[in-house]
Amino acid sequence: MTVVSPSALSIDFSRLNEQIEAFNQSEAEYLHFDVMDGHLVPNLTFGPDILKGLKKMTSKVMDVHLMVTDPVHYAEVFVNAGADIITFHIEAIKNDAGLALVDDLHQKQIRAGITLKPKTSVETLIPYLEKVDMVLVMSVEPGFGGQSFMADMLEKVRFLKQYREEHQLSYLIEIDGGINEETGKLAKEAGCDILVAGSYVFNHPQGIKEAVRTLL
Ligand code: DX5
Ligand code: ZN
Repeated sequence: MTVVSPSALSIDFSRLNEQIEAFNQSEAEYLHFDVMDGHLVPNLTFGPDILKGLKKMTSKVMDVHLMVTDPVHYAEVFVNAGADIITFHIEAIKNDAGLALVDDLHQKQIRAGITLKPKTSVETLIPYLEKVDMVLVMSVEPGFGGQSFMADMLEKVRFLKQYREEHQLSYLIEIDGGINEETGKLAKEAGCDILVAGSYVFNHPQGIKEAVRTLL
């Protein structure tokens, strides 16, 4: 079963109530929440108060994607704000801080995910694969919604799927960037369990509910 995680980055905030209401009625199980600090990626987005506000409007799983240079600090901030899943970038990690962060999240009963930028090799994630609940493959350069899907990132998905089988692991594979009906199908065929989609879902001419349905 595929899980759809619409990205809050593409919400039209001038129509927040209406869009969240349609999202709540859709079959999406998660809400993807992109946190950018202007350092790890060249854009700024949401702080913890926005997450707290959205949590009052929906009961979906809060899937927080930290694109920040200090994930250890901000993981705690967003756990306190109500995150259910915290995913952080391997590029932001020095030494063993990332493995300790996964343990810390698990102690707090929060699911932990690891992710990587398109230019980072998937093998760098190997030390994490026995521990994490989710691996997020970025299929665009992180920072902005509405970019084109990088089909060569599906190689990383295939690697992760095979590695999971060979080592009898249970992490879910999520993909983020440029997902629409067509690329979503390719991603599922390659082994993705969770599809993040921003502009496709929130700008779909037939509405949010129908957009989510086409991804399932
Ligand atoms: C990009 C973000 C994505 C973004 C995807 O850095 O991580 O979650 O919202 O947007 P689309 O689906 O429009 O490519
Ligand atoms: Zn994201």
